[in-house]
Amino acid sequence: MSLWGGRFSEKNDPLMHQFNQSLGFDRRMWKADIQGSQVYAQALHRAGILTSEEQTQLVNGLEAVGKEWAAGTFAIQEGDEDIHTANERRLGELVGPVAGKLHTGRSRNDQVATDMRIWLRDEANALLGLLKALIAVATERAEKEIDILMPGYTHLQRAQPIRWSHFLLSHAWSWHADAERLEQLIHRMNALPLGSGALAGNPFNVDREWMAQQLGFHSATPNSLYGVSDRDFVAEFLFWASLTMVHLSRWAEDLIVYCSAEFGFVVLADAYSTGSSLMPQKKNPDSLELIRGKAGRVFGGMTGFMMTVKGLPSTYNKDLQEDKEPMFATLDTLSACLQIAAGTLSTLKTKPEKMKASLSIDMLATDVAEYLVRKGVPFRETHHIAGRAVRLAEDRGVDMSALGVADFKQLHPAFAEDVTDIWDYEVSVNRRSAKGGTSRVTVLEQIESLKEWLGKQG
Ligand code: ARG
Repeated sequence: MSLWGGRFSEKNDPLMHQFNQSLGFDRRMWKADIQGSQVYAQALHRAGILTSEEQTQLVNGLEAVGKEWAAGTFAIQEGDEDIHTANERRLGELVGPVAGKLHTGRSRNDQVATDMRIWLRDEANALLGLLKALIAVATERAEKEIDILMPGYTHLQRAQPIRWSHFLLSHAWSWHADAERLEQLIHRMNALPLGSGALAGNPFNVDREWMAQQLGFHSATPNSLYGVSDRDFVAEFLFWASLTMVHLSRWAEDLIVYCSAEFGFVVLADAYSTGSSLMPQKKNPDSLELIRGKAGRVFGGMTGFMMTVKGLPSTYNKDLQEDKEPMFATLDTLSACLQIAAGTLSTLKTKPEKMKASLSIDMLATDVAEYLVRKGVPFRETHHIAGRAVRLAEDRGVDMSALGVADFKQLHPAFAEDVTDIWDYEVSVNRRSAKGGTSRVTVLEQIESLKEWLGKQG
């Protein structure tokens, strides 16, 4: 029998029952549901609704229900509609009629909003740990491989020489911003809706701030209508996940390109690659491709959820039950992607010789222009002169470094013998030493700053 049957004379159609039930997925929140109910029972006692004995019976009974979930022995019954009704039904079987007092002044509307915030807060904190582990992998690699130089690209065309570490850290900084955003949204979601009733508020004056404190929330939500209808914390999480997947998929794409034979900058470990059923020579970067591919479903979860909540009338509507599946699925996807990303990144091998061989003298054309700037020539002019040096070398079918000092002097009188100093990639890289540049010093600064941040996170 369902818990709301009083005004009904007929049973639900079996398909409707199936359509309406959410226990199949919201059982994941069993622990949050038990915790919320235990604190609510205590609040009812503090408000004078339950005797101390009744309170103890309920708290202990709920503990026993939780043990069944933990042990995998909780027996789901035909009429169990969702995790809230299932737990209350089982509580009644264990402690008797006193269980009927638990829901006093409470609604599944404030209950479900509470459960979700507890659940997501705790799971999001676990994700934060995985994200930090990934940032730590990138930072450690960056430190160890500080000497490796590679081509930096814009438009996927060779642009300027950079450090491999600088490239790695560019992604680590995106993930760092993701971590900061996640911390901020965990804080925002950490307000307690319990005690809002179905919509209008709690008639027994339960101490909501006390409950908030007990459940680890920083405060109780300020308006009961808002408390039961707000799902911004889900929306924010889904957006956060989408943006994080943008970052992970761009990182994956870079490495997919870099592990192709044409680039050959990195080799993925066998542990994170798969083979082809037809072509024996193939080793495919499936770990990275799946990360890139799974971004799609995460964006879909966010978009679908936005459509679900758009235009809903105040306050609770059953549409809101559609908030859970994208939340669970997105959490699982992010958890898997972050772990696979960390594993892939920590085990891949770099090919410094291949990276170095891909550097070419034309990538130092900007350095030629900058050489003249240091001799007092305006940059707009030097850019043009360097361009002419590139063309001259091209016309002769040689590298710019093969041009003679006399050739350069003809292009501009400010060129001198030291023009040959330009043809050194390491020097070029180390000149980019303003904060955030690819010089050794400024890359080490980034590493220190990420290490310090990771250290503070504990
Ligand atoms: N299973 C429901 C959900 O996930 C719980 C809230 C039901 N509330 C209601 N008024 N029917 O949203």
